[in-house]
Amino acid sequence: MEKLSIEGGAPLEGEVSISGAKNAALPILCASILTAGTLRVENVPRLRDVTTTLNLLGQMGMELSLDDKLGLSLRGDGLHSVVAPYELVKTMRASILVLGPLVARFGEAKVSLPGGCAIGVRPVDQHIKGLRALGAEIDIEHGYIHARAGRLKGTRLVMDLVTVTGTENLMMAACLAEGTTVIENAAREPEVADLADCLNAMGARVEGAGGDVITVHGVSALHGATHRVMPDRIETGTFLAAVATAGGRVTVRDCLPRSLDAVTAKLAEAGARIETGPDWMRIEMERRPSAVNLRTAPYPAFPTDMQAQFMTLNCVADGTATITETIFENRLMHVQELRRLGAAIDVQGNTAIIRGVDRLEGAAVMATDLRASASLVIAGLVAQGTTTVDRIYHLDRGYERIEEKLRRLGARVQRIS
Ligand code: UD1
Repeated sequence: MEKLSIEGGAPLEGEVSISGAKNAALPILCASILTAGTLRVENVPRLRDVTTTLNLLGQMGMELSLDDKLGLSLRGDGLHSVVAPYELVKTMRASILVLGPLVARFGEAKVSLPGGCAIGVRPVDQHIKGLRALGAEIDIEHGYIHARAGRLKGTRLVMDLVTVTGTENLMMAACLAEGTTVIENAAREPEVADLADCLNAMGARVEGAGGDVITVHGVSALHGATHRVMPDRIETGTFLAAVATAGGRVTVRDCLPRSLDAVTAKLAEAGARIETGPDWMRIEMERRPSAVNLRTAPYPAFPTDMQAQFMTLNCVADGTATITETIFENRLMHVQELRRLGAAIDVQGNTAIIRGVDRLEGAAVMATDLRASASLVIAGLVAQGTTTVDRIYHLDRGYERIEEKLRRLGARVQRIS
């Protein structure tokens, strides 16, 4: 199994370029199911979750090709299977995103129930409830969601809670429904809006995505299109948090600063100097960070996917901070690994109380989930001595060549097997 070995203590200096957003690319790739035409997607990040999605679509009969400009074309006229098997879904919960498109275009889908995952129970009841309201008949049999429908019928959907992939699944399904669907209490994440832009380029009529009420006027078919995936705001935030923690001066290119307002506000509170342009950000950190309290919540509030990275910042900060995780019930697993590096963290329920220490010390630690691994890498950058992060396959799910990008900023990071 591969590990990262990090020699701590070097500040980060230079420029880094941000990849396409994982959480926008995954639903957009699944949107290709909605048309028999060719969807060409640019700026697709090279990540394990993307490979898993392409495997899944390929197994269904999607024709995939890569052109010389690294655009990925997906042609859905030969789809012959509507099954998402357990073996793939268990490795990536976002596979549930094929459910809505399959039912909408083919009137049938068999998608394995995702089951539990490390960070919490994460049920898919909202996806199922919404599809039923759109007219699908859904049975849960042998661990699979089996959905059948004639043409779906537009309706008013009021989500019980804010769910990102739930909103995306229902928005995609509603594109081919008869009549108008209104999704209330929709997720406002920028990735939902990026998916809507792609769907509209394919001939859909989606309005209001990015807000909490989305209206979809159903059409009878979608056509091929080209779409460029938005920049990854979590990768951007991770590099910014790394600089704010380890110190230095970095320009982040090809990013979308306005998708990161809650994160940049907290970085400024920690003492970082930040400048932004339309698609770049510059961060400078010359001193020990100040402790920052935060609470995760749906967009536009502070993202749960940045919580672990800010935990590490607080570990070495001046002062004491509290971090409350409100989205997932078990997303503080990095705490025990950070303690192995000398962090002083108490946990009470879903709140961590972090007393900043003068220094962390390198040790062997283990990644437990995607963003937890990022927090351990940042800890390794600031810790004295060598930190090895085991199980970095979690990291490869969501960060493209992170060790190469960090090395170019002067970090001493090696991938070892
Ligand atoms: C997406 C992101 C993930 C991010 C999360 C929250 C993708 C591929 N992944 O995950 O990186 O951490 O949003 O911003 O975009 N819930 C239910 N019933 C449902 C659906 C969700 O109870 O049917 C609960 C979940 O258990 C969780 C909360 O709602 O507590 C939010 O989950 P959700 O927004 O659905 O997360 P994902 O879309 O899976």
